[in-house]
Amino acid sequence: MRSLSKREFLGSISATLVASTFASLASIERLFAQVATVAPDALAADEEFWESIRKRYTITRDFIQLENGYYAATAEPVLDSYIGHVRDVNLISSYYMRTQQADDKLAVRRELARLLGCSEAELIITRNTTESLDTVISGFDWKPGDEAVMAESDYGSMLDMFKLQARRHGMVNHVVSVPLHPQSDDEIVAVYEKAITPKTRLLMVCHMINITGQILPVKKIVEMAHRRGVQVMVDGAHTFGQLDFAIADLGGCDYYASSLHKWLGAPLGSGILHVRKDRIKALWPMFADSSFADDDIRKLNHTGTHPAPTDLAIRDAIRFHDAIGIARKAARLRHLQRYWTDKVRGVKGIVVNTPGAMERSCATANAGIDGIAPAELAKMLFDRYRVFTVAIDGAGVRGVRVTPQLFTTTRELDVLVDALKALAAAQ
Ligand SMILES: Cc1ncc(COP(=O)(O)O)c(C=O)c1O
Repeated sequence: MRSLSKREFLGSISATLVASTFASLASIERLFAQVATVAPDALAADEEFWESIRKRYTITRDFIQLENGYYAATAEPVLDSYIGHVRDVNLISSYYMRTQQADDKLAVRRELARLLGCSEAELIITRNTTESLDTVISGFDWKPGDEAVMAESDYGSMLDMFKLQARRHGMVNHVVSVPLHPQSDDEIVAVYEKAITPKTRLLMVCHMINITGQILPVKKIVEMAHRRGVQVMVDGAHTFGQLDFAIADLGGCDYYASSLHKWLGAPLGSGILHVRKDRIKALWPMFADSSFADDDIRKLNHTGTHPAPTDLAIRDAIRFHDAIGIARKAARLRHLQRYWTDKVRGVKGIVVNTPGAMERSCATANAGIDGIAPAELAKMLFDRYRVFTVAIDGAGVRGVRVTPQLFTTTRELDVLVDALKALAAAQ
């Protein structure tokens, strides 16, 4: 049998779908090309313009979706392409997995490395931040008495993974408390520095704290920790695809991880792990793979048969993301957050748990109401106003986390503002 090229194989089933996806992506590129000279901050406030981006998403009419920090809906052109990849891979099934998937995954990795500004040899595609960070935490060669530093506001799964290492290896965890409203970067750096001892080997820090949206001065924390001989693992679950940065801006951090289904707009179940070249060798893989050398990051990436179409759709998400441009995306997201927090900050009975300084937050913020428990507040917002948020009640934070996305409108945020004010006034 004549061997068919991938194009011939795939052309039979999804040519129409692929063509329409490319047309949609190209139309987004044209749309943004028209505003190439408009400053991101000016464009951020142009509701009419962003309305045309909203049209690229299918938005539920049942409620106002303001919990986009967990996982955000994929834009239609990316979703169409993803469905096309599912069909394509399904059509030739094992043939695709045996002949094509490894090369395709490397090609996607190349594009992700470009976005993060790192070498391909320091990056792998994982399923999510949890898998990435837990690979590092569990792959560390912990000895009894070794110490790690982290914050109470860090993500629960990672804190649990550190606790597991403590039980298993007798290492010790020091948990710090990050101020909700810091006066300076130095104040935050000092909190972490105080917890370091001569036995500290690893420090975990969130690039953006998920429960409040506070952005931490990661570069300064990394530089301080490195001066003390401590490695730093950055939890970037909420920053890749939301903030305008490259890995070099994080002070040479040793490890960085993110989930692509949060802010890059890729389908559920996609993430990255960056390990600095000189740190790869010492990490033990979670799943063994003797086909790669100890200093090849791919040794950390053997998860067995996995959904390859998801990896392929990352490329489509990158194209959509690139067309918007990270500076414009970050500016619009910050604008949306400031739009509602500026209206409720200082209102009697409303407590905003996110710092007010511009550089300390972007899309996500958190607010509570005196006298209303967070779970009750989230329920009231949903039942009475059809506004979906998530309750946060821990690590000194009591409120609801609100996370708009590119498709969020200021009209929707007005509903939130009016609801918060009405509920606070009724207390
Ligand atoms: C700060 C932080 N780290 C890690 C994670 C885990 O992400 P995932 O569930 O995609 O692995 C989350 C999820 O929301 C998070 O907010």
